[in-house]
Amino acid sequence: MVDKKEIDDVTGVELTGHVWDDDLRELNEPLPKWWLWVLYVSIIWSVGYWIAYPAWPTASGYTKGLFGYSQRTTVSEEIATANQAQAKFRQAIASAELETVRAEPELLSFSIAGGRASFGDNCAPCHGRGAQGFIGYPNLNDDVWIWGGKLADIHKTILFGIRSGHPETRDNAMPRYGLEQLLTKEQINELAETVLAFANNATDKAAAERGKAIFAEQCVSCHGDEGKGNQELGAPDLTDAIWLYGGTKVAIVTSISTGRGGVMPAWNERLDPVTIKQLTVYVHSLGGGQ
Ligand code: HEC
Ligand code: HEC
Repeated sequence: MVDKKEIDDVTGVELTGHVWDDDLRELNEPLPKWWLWVLYVSIIWSVGYWIAYPAWPTASGYTKGLFGYSQRTTVSEEIATANQAQAKFRQAIASAELETVRAEPELLSFSIAGGRASFGDNCAPCHGRGAQGFIGYPNLNDDVWIWGGKLADIHKTILFGIRSGHPETRDNAMPRYGLEQLLTKEQINELAETVLAFANNATDKAAAERGKAIFAEQCVSCHGDEGKGNQELGAPDLTDAIWLYGGTKVAIVTSISTGRGGVMPAWNERLDPVTIKQLTVYVHSLGGGQ
């Protein structure tokens, strides 16, 4: 045994008396006092915290703590307050005509804010975050409408969808001229040239001329005499150089062959009437509303 008071020669610090390998000795350097105090205070603090706040899981839940604090309650209260603030606007929108919602600045900005949020959640996957659209999914920012750009038109489109299967859906099927062999490949080629010629893009003027007769026979009932389209029938304007499925010759031949037929879901059972009105006003406000 080494004497307890033995001092290390090099550092001048007291030794603990532990010795390894004959001459490896341990200096006696206890934890600093301040450090220990911080530890003790933390322990006392944690016990207080366990008592005051929700802390420990129990078989049937958790210890609620003296203060009864709950983040869930706080959030619910905040939501309730926000809902109350919104209720006034929502009620007004519920009973107002769409034109009135658009005309009243407060209802308009409330609808645009709510409509934008709902659009991001429900419509952006198909129409794009900025409603810019993709092939087959129309751009909602421009003033070109397949089914109409008045508030009432947009409202109906959103409520019941397009070819959605809902009894009141917008619905119209372009014949599948190629798939069902209603027209020959040659005729379809000529028609595609005729359609391209509407925007002066025909590559084969003679074919475009020949296609005119077939167009008059087969296509005008939906797309109109001059190919200007018909919103009642959801038949797009073929002369405006804005294409749902593309304006290349290949895309146009495919449109005539397959008839296309885009599907948009009905929202009347998924979203409440006020949200659908907000969406209507929002889409209308994007730039192309009529
Ligand atoms: C599953 C994809 C999909 C979703 C989701 C979707 N749409 Fe559509 N939407 C379409 C397609 C496809 C068309 C074009 C249908 C056609 O070819 O006539 C369309 C057309 C429209 C039109 C008509 C455009 C015109 O030119 O007449 C409006 C307005 C519209 N959508 C709004 C919305 C809104 C608002 C939402 C969200 C509540 C939404 N859409 C969600 C696929 C979708
Ligand atoms: C019964 C009505 C109907 C007839 C007849 C019809 N179409 Fe269509 N056509 C439509 C509809 C509806 C669409 C839009 C389909 C969609 O939105 O998915 C369409 C879309 C198109 C498109 C795609 C437009 C785009 O923006 O991409 C082309 C091209 C077209 N039709 C050409 C023709 C030609 C050529 C004929 C005659 C051979 C014809 N259609 C006859 C209803 C018709």
